[in-house]
Amino acid sequence: MPIRTLPKFRNLSDFLTHLAARDELREVSAPVSLAQEMTAVHRRVLEARGPVLKFNHATDAGGARAGMPVVTNLFGTPARVAAGLGLAPDQVTELGEFLAALREPAPLDGMRDALSRWPMLSAALATRPKIRRSAEVQHTVLQGDQVDMAALPVQTCWPGEPAPLITWPLVLTRPADSQAEDTARYNMGVYRMQVLGRARCIMRWLAHRGGAAHHRGWQARGEKMPVAVVIGADPATMLSAALPLPSTVSELRFAGVLRGERSALVAARTVPMMVPADAEIILEGWVDPTTRAPEGPYGDHTGYYNSVEDFPVMEITAITMRKSPLYVSTFTGRPPDEPSVIGEVFNTLALPVIRRQIPEVVDMWLPPAACSYRMAIVSIRKEYAGQARRVMMALWGMLPQFSYTKAIVVVDEDINPRNWDDISWALATRMDPGRDVMVLENTPMDYLDFASPQAGMAGKLGIDATNKLGSETSREWGRVMAMNPEAEDFAARLCRDMKLTPEAGQ
Ligand SMILES: Cc1cc2nc3c(=O)[nH]c(=O)nc-3n(C[C@H](O)[C@H](O)[C@H](O)COP(=O)(O)O)c2cc1C
Repeated sequence: MPIRTLPKFRNLSDFLTHLAARDELREVSAPVSLAQEMTAVHRRVLEARGPVLKFNHATDAGGARAGMPVVTNLFGTPARVAAGLGLAPDQVTELGEFLAALREPAPLDGMRDALSRWPMLSAALATRPKIRRSAEVQHTVLQGDQVDMAALPVQTCWPGEPAPLITWPLVLTRPADSQAEDTARYNMGVYRMQVLGRARCIMRWLAHRGGAAHHRGWQARGEKMPVAVVIGADPATMLSAALPLPSTVSELRFAGVLRGERSALVAARTVPMMVPADAEIILEGWVDPTTRAPEGPYGDHTGYYNSVEDFPVMEITAITMRKSPLYVSTFTGRPPDEPSVIGEVFNTLALPVIRRQIPEVVDMWLPPAACSYRMAIVSIRKEYAGQARRVMMALWGMLPQFSYTKAIVVVDEDINPRNWDDISWALATRMDPGRDVMVLENTPMDYLDFASPQAGMAGKLGIDATNKLGSETSREWGRVMAMNPEAEDFAARLCRDMKLTPEAGQ
């Protein structure tokens, strides 16, 4: 059975049509400035878990009308992220199982297992993208002197930012020893881009990202790297770029798996790269091995402005677009923002991967408010003394994302790790600060964490809030109170009949 249950979304407009039919799209005809106003509107709507916004009258800082609509809040609810993956919300775990199979230490067996359980998906993953001779995304081609980033409605999201910022670019790169046709070796990641002028942007790929690794390869040869940037695409392509996929899995092929049909590519006009044929807008260009420029300060998903850092620069050789393109944008800021909503779904996707390595894990929650990765609450089926600490250490060592998780709280399986009241109760009753807190020093941390004593190096906190057993305690341990089921049934009936509780009265 193919996992995809929603209709195919070949391009962004297909997805918007699907959402509009479910009352999840609102067109805004009032003028809205790209400078801050759009962020302010988007934040309110996102916080209320509201619809996708299509701003039909975006204006620049000078009040001039933008040449195309701006779409924001595309992935503003977990249900829309699931829909973008082609799934009903309750199917996300199933896709997580497939991802877990792809990560198996013995890839052959893992693939065989995946192959038997998800034949369509596995076959799709082994299939090359379709190559087209022409594509709608090349309806308009601006080259040479025609290239001007001012043609695009690029947002300035927060006060004090130095220049407009492309916030949802899908950056396509390939290794230095590859050819344009080797699309299985392409990397596609979302790395924000500061506009420097008519035909220049800064590429802010953090050092551990796929795009940065490719650039180091071209740098070592002293060669400039061809780059293509997609702005606006079908939702599966957009989400594949944001997903932490195993490095052996091609994002373009994975997008084909999610789309329910192979991705379609077309040769870029001015660089040796293939680009998604069904996209809205493509920027083509080169990144020089040595040129760098100071990026920022920009507001980030932590809720703070980043410090200014130097990053490589892209020289844009062409802008291509559909006849009537849509520009997709977002903001990053203190959660909730769109990346933190996407993070909620990625949490569900990651669980099967974690359970394969640490089978006693029942559930895990990365609170979006803690920037989606800085804290983790994990519930386990506890069987032996010291198990909570083992789980913490396994998690920190397992996936690269967890090396930036500052604090892990481990609870028992009767505690809901997604409920702060439950967590507080476990901390208050099952944890002793002297015995159950583990503090590590000098471990890796992302440089965005200005609270760490040194950039890139920080401590870690593990809190064992599980019931203590065996040699963990010599005290008589508390017994959790519970009412007998007959009394509960009686109470439920009486409350309903006499309308004693608000639920019963409804
Ligand atoms: C809206 C949005 C903005 C992002 N901005 C950046 C960024 O500026 N730099 C960065 O390195 N990662 C950024 N990310 C995260 C990466 O895109 C994401 O981790 C991706 O999986 C990286 O792919 P890679 O492992 O192939 O490099 C952003 C993600 C989203 C959804």
